[in-house]
Amino acid sequence: MEKKHILIGVTGGIAAYKACDLVSTLSKNKNYEIKVMMTKHATEFVSPMSFEALSHNKVETSLFSETNEDPIAHISLASWADICVLVPATANIIAKVVNGIADDMVSTTFLACHTKKMICPAMNTHMYENPVTQQNLQKAIDLGYVIVDPAYGHLACNVDGKGKLAAVKDIVFAIDKELSDPFLKGKNVLISAGPTQEALDPVRFISNHSSGKQGYSIARQAYLAGANVTIVSGPVNQEPIEGVTIVPATSAQSMFEAIKERLEETDYIIMAAAVADYRPEIVADQKIKKHDNTLDVHFVKNPDILAYIGQKKRPNQIVCGFAMETQDLDKNAKEKLEKKNCDMLIANNLFVEGAGFKTDTNVVTLIRKNSLEHLPKLTKIELGLKILKTMKEIEEEVVSC
Ligand code: CTP
Repeated sequence: MEKKHILIGVTGGIAAYKACDLVSTLSKNKNYEIKVMMTKHATEFVSPMSFEALSHNKVETSLFSETNEDPIAHISLASWADICVLVPATANIIAKVVNGIADDMVSTTFLACHTKKMICPAMNTHMYENPVTQQNLQKAIDLGYVIVDPAYGHLACNVDGKGKLAAVKDIVFAIDKELSDPFLKGKNVLISAGPTQEALDPVRFISNHSSGKQGYSIARQAYLAGANVTIVSGPVNQEPIEGVTIVPATSAQSMFEAIKERLEETDYIIMAAAVADYRPEIVADQKIKKHDNTLDVHFVKNPDILAYIGQKKRPNQIVCGFAMETQDLDKNAKEKLEKKNCDMLIANNLFVEGAGFKTDTNVVTLIRKNSLEHLPKLTKIELGLKILKTMKEIEEEVVSC
């Protein structure tokens, strides 16, 4: 896949140091190449060398530098970029770029860019709230630039208010959104994630180690690909994802109800949740007190949500299940795919290094009705994209049949 080119324009505010973190984070994504340009004032806050080290590319600071190998670097950079992001963007640079002023490397290159443009303001609250800045920001929106709003917080100027640079993860998300291929535009995607908890009494439950990371990673990628995404989520510690609807569900039964309600309107269903197979038959209404040396609990079977979906699904509804195994992975998973009538199944072995519940990576076998693919170790985000792309392929095959 060809790398996307991100041009970061750093301007002179105290938040310039946070742009280092941003460039460092973006550089770790192997689908991105990053270049940085800076205003003279920005170089008072952070040395260009920091950005050169983090981006692995030369940093441009002047239109007229004698050491500049490229005499028209602003034009070369502008045509190289798939997106140009001003971060932090001072009130001054915002005023310049919405009025076509081009008097330094950053403003001139921004004007020459005929691609996506993003502005991440950071400044003193009063400067931010000043009607002139607000008018300029509105003008930027009207010009089609994406604004990543600053946050509330305690600012370097000792004022509490709006003007703090947005969190780096939110800026990364906004850039990812702009650069993603919208191959799921308009699709409704339903994902289950996390564990279920099966109550024993008002203070205790039986559950498993699922963290919800894989399900939430798929949801993030589906949203970036333009889908309308809902997660039916067991109890997890994952951060909500902007733009994704989260429906909480605690037990297998409540997860089943939440999914059944939404099945009709869903195009892609991904059952990444670790649903408890059994629940205590009786939930004590008072805390169970300790008496004997042993405690007998009688369990009854929970509904198999994926099997239900497989029975009810329309031909153009694409269903992906998961299988967590500890032995005979391929054989057991293939049987699960058939038994539950899924279009594909992602199988992993808990005992393989890099796979499992709490890791950021996964090592899986992707099983379809007529094929089986052992994938290399991938991050859960990368695997999320691979799953969605494969579901899209399956859908296209169904449609062309
Ligand atoms: N699943 C489900 N409802 C259940 C149990 C599992 O929908 N009551 C789904 C899971 O979300 C997963 C798939 O079925 O997508 C396989 O789950 P897994 O726990 O690996 O298999 P089980 O069917 O429970 O079989 P076993 O525990 O015997 O391996």
